[in-house]
Amino acid sequence: MSIIGVLTAGGDCPGLNAVIRGVTARTVERGDSEVVGILNGWEGLMEGRTVPLNRDAVRGILGRGGTILGTSRKDPIVHGDGYQSVKRTLEANDLDVVVVIGGDGSLRTALRLADDGFPVVGVPKTIDNDIAATDFTFGFDTAVQIATDAIDRLTTTAEAHNRVILVEVMGRTRGWIATYAGLAGGADAILIPEYPVPLEDVARVLRRRHRHGHAYSIVVVAEGVEPPVKTKRPKDAFGFERLGGVAYQIAPVLEELTGFETRVTVLGHLQRGGTPTAFDRVLATRLGAAAADLAAEGQRNVMVSLRGAQIAAVPLADACGEPRGVDRELYEVARTFFG
Ligand code: F6P
Repeated sequence: MSIIGVLTAGGDCPGLNAVIRGVTARTVERGDSEVVGILNGWEGLMEGRTVPLNRDAVRGILGRGGTILGTSRKDPIVHGDGYQSVKRTLEANDLDVVVVIGGDGSLRTALRLADDGFPVVGVPKTIDNDIAATDFTFGFDTAVQIATDAIDRLTTTAEAHNRVILVEVMGRTRGWIATYAGLAGGADAILIPEYPVPLEDVARVLRRRHRHGHAYSIVVVAEGVEPPVKTKRPKDAFGFERLGGVAYQIAPVLEELTGFETRVTVLGHLQRGGTPTAFDRVLATRLGAAAADLAAEGQRNVMVSLRGAQIAAVPLADACGEPRGVDRELYEVARTFFG
């Protein structure tokens, strides 16, 4: 009988509970292992805070946002002494393997600990959809739906007042949420870090649109686009810049260039809260079940991943490469509808 630990690390993401449920239910069904939940991400692994998980413990959580295990941005490499600071909990709980449900920061940490012997199976998690070696991450679809709903609502008020509204979405250094939500919401321009567009060009698009009788516009801005004036930002535990608010810098520049009243809505953490979409529930459940199988079967240093329609195991190292950006072809489709 092996013992599988499971933790959720880094920023939360709709679908985390579905993964925890997937890992637990599949393990119970297999009957060859037990599951132990680790509280508050890496912090709980350092401090020895665990809770037994069984079928009853994960009932009723499939559609719930957040994570029943809690999460934190604490990291054993930054805030502890690496593998040594988690080894005690592994030994005290007889953990054979830990399923780490994390974004690229947490997966990179897991990979570094694995070099010293940390037994890990990774599950990619982020609303940003930018993890290498997987086609989609759970949470992304939910974030896109929330952003699309917001765009739909902002469109009617923009139209009523003849305003330009900038809708800022998350995504860190990649423009997946902006591109998908912008396409789905019929945005008049989409600004993403991968393909910078001078603000003069955006202004030209908006002026042309207004000349053609549409006196309002929606511009989707990815939080990671270069600000007109670069400022130093604080960093999180994984060394990532804390983003948010760039649209407030872009709005006055566009207003000056166009003469159109320009307002800003920053969606922020709304995009991460609440119930996951059906797509994310299914994807997260499949990833959780697959992670349980890999863990029980003795595979280590691997990550479960969506490849086409299939769930596959890929080396954890592959997921820790350069974050995946929006491909040019997709952005060109979105650009077709600008203005
Ligand atoms: O990586 C997910 C994400 O939501 C990013 O889109 C965003 O920049 C960041 O996390 C925000 O992190 P925090 O909740 O720590 O402010």
